[in-house]
Amino acid sequence: MEILGIDIGGTGIKGALVDIKTGKLTTNKHRIPTPNPATPESVASTIQELVNHFNWKGLVGCGFPTPLQHGKCLTGGNLHEDWKNTQVDTLFKAKTGNDFSVVNDADAAGLAEINFGAGKDVKGTVIMITLGTGIGSGLFLDGKLIPNTEFGHVLYKNGEIFEKYASDSARKRDGLTRKEWGKRLNKYFNHINLLVSPDLIIVGGGASKKFEKFETKINVGVKIVPAKAENEAGIIGAAMAAKYQIK
Ligand code: BGC
Repeated sequence: MEILGIDIGGTGIKGALVDIKTGKLTTNKHRIPTPNPATPESVASTIQELVNHFNWKGLVGCGFPTPLQHGKCLTGGNLHEDWKNTQVDTLFKAKTGNDFSVVNDADAAGLAEINFGAGKDVKGTVIMITLGTGIGSGLFLDGKLIPNTEFGHVLYKNGEIFEKYASDSARKRDGLTRKEWGKRLNKYFNHINLLVSPDLIIVGGGASKKFEKFETKINVGVKIVPAKAENEAGIIGAAMAAKYQIK
């Protein structure tokens, strides 16, 4: 069974058809830059463009970069303040005519890794951390998702959240080398380990492709591995969440 998986990020909106049984993409990825400003109306138009690109009439699973409850966005996050309280699945369905299932992007990436990737058959507590424009998290216990954790919003210092200090966009903003960034990530992962004592941390988002460039700076008393599906985990997991209607 195929579902169109879409991953909405701060800089790009990416989609592909996903085979739900194997967790593999069955088409090439298609990426459209995230509109600026990323208002509900402009993002909905980009979603329509993606759906048209694949000429897709079926169910769409969408990873969304904010906490959500039952398809409703709880904060505008890194997109736009107008998203707050928007029923995202209803908006996208009204625009495209397709049925939509919307989940948090990091929860989606985690679902892909737990089912097909680095977290497969891992018992206990597994945390997926995605490093991109923001820092997202997905928390799993014995393979089951505990949705909407926001571990990127853990406070770092002076009321500042870790996302502002250690995300990939913070690396770019501050002109850090991967090794310098790795030192910041080391602080972050140590803090997460202290708070949750997980059995495994999986690192996803664009950064997972360059994991070996900062890995040497990470020294935490827990296994940390890159996502197997790298940056595609968000697309795969969004499609899976739609299939199982995880909201
Ligand atoms: C949001 C999370 C999201 C993460 C990654 C954060 O700013 O609060 O919900 O998962 O960015 O996109």
